[in-house]
Amino acid sequence: MLILAIESSCDEFSVAIVRDGIDCLMMETLSQIASHAKYGGVIPELASREHVRDFAHILKKVLLYSESISEKFDAIAVTVGPGLSGSLLVGIQVAKTLATYWNLPLIPVHHILGHIFSVGLTHTISYPLMSLIVSGGHTEIVYSTSSTEHKLIGKTRDDAVGEVYDKIARKLNMPYPGGPLLDKIAQSGECRYQFKKPRMDDRYAFSFSGLKSAVINQIRKETFSEDDVADLACSFQTTVVDELLTKLKEALSEFPAECVLLCGGVSANAQLRAAFLDLEKTDAKTEYLIPDFKYCGDNAAMIGGAAYYLKAVSYDETLTLDCTPNITIEDFLKKFNEVKE
Ligand code: KG4
Ligand code: ZN
Repeated sequence: MLILAIESSCDEFSVAIVRDGIDCLMMETLSQIASHAKYGGVIPELASREHVRDFAHILKKVLLYSESISEKFDAIAVTVGPGLSGSLLVGIQVAKTLATYWNLPLIPVHHILGHIFSVGLTHTISYPLMSLIVSGGHTEIVYSTSSTEHKLIGKTRDDAVGEVYDKIARKLNMPYPGGPLLDKIAQSGECRYQFKKPRMDDRYAFSFSGLKSAVINQIRKETFSEDDVADLACSFQTTVVDELLTKLKEALSEFPAECVLLCGGVSANAQLRAAFLDLEKTDAKTEYLIPDFKYCGDNAAMIGGAAYYLKAVSYDETLTLDCTPNITIEDFLKKFNEVKE
């Protein structure tokens, strides 16, 4: 099954051709990072306007490639949420136009399912499956008993981990997005600052706003110098990694899994990747998998990967499909009927 997939939920416009949910034949992604960097974060209005301005250029490259392999698409897939409504709508509009023009089924995709299936582009995933999704907008643990049955186990009550990286970096006058740079700087630091881990009544819920404030308060102290940055980054990152993996291990003790995934933009983080893969040393019967670097951040290949396991909407629904900016995985599955016929 050959799927043309589109992802535009935030500040990337990405189009990919994916065969059978696992084989990405071609992907083109345009990132708007340079445009948003001067504001220190994503400006939603700017993101959608740039998508409208640039999508034809990206789409054309992928369509030219598809002509060269002279294979017809079986379906169009597009992210419908969660994400920024203006950004999502541009991708949805492009997908609806292509689906109606070519008379092809249209498959709506949940962005988080996309991140989960990003790992399937390079590894074989098995079930039951536990996924830790860590990105700029989400920090979640999802338990999947099959490719179509997914349950949200826990999520952040406030900031997502990537968002905290970006906000701390901004306080340190580093360019957006701050995650990759703080990751690099942390590698030469020493963990000499002590940050408290959040105390939560729900054992799987995350909270990172307290940690963010503690780090920012430290930066504001008069005694804080340029030389302290690496130590601060290392201490902050170590607290984050510990908190993420402690909750993941707790979830695994209640919901046993054959396979465990780390995914989302922050899964590119060196310390988090290493600590996550280390878990396999004490849990050899479970497989711990991470996505290839090119599939960590937002990309259309992961949307094509997830779409393979989801149902297309009817022709009428294709014409009226709207974005669902805050939809949870469970609500998405209810709305778009999870079981593939
Ligand atoms: O998944 P993604 O591309 O977009 C969302 O769906 O949010 O994630 C982007 C986030 C940004 O906050 C960025 O700072 C963070 O991922 N990020 C990192 C690293 N690379 C990207 N955070 C920590 N370490 C990294 N190496
Ligand atoms: Zn994402």
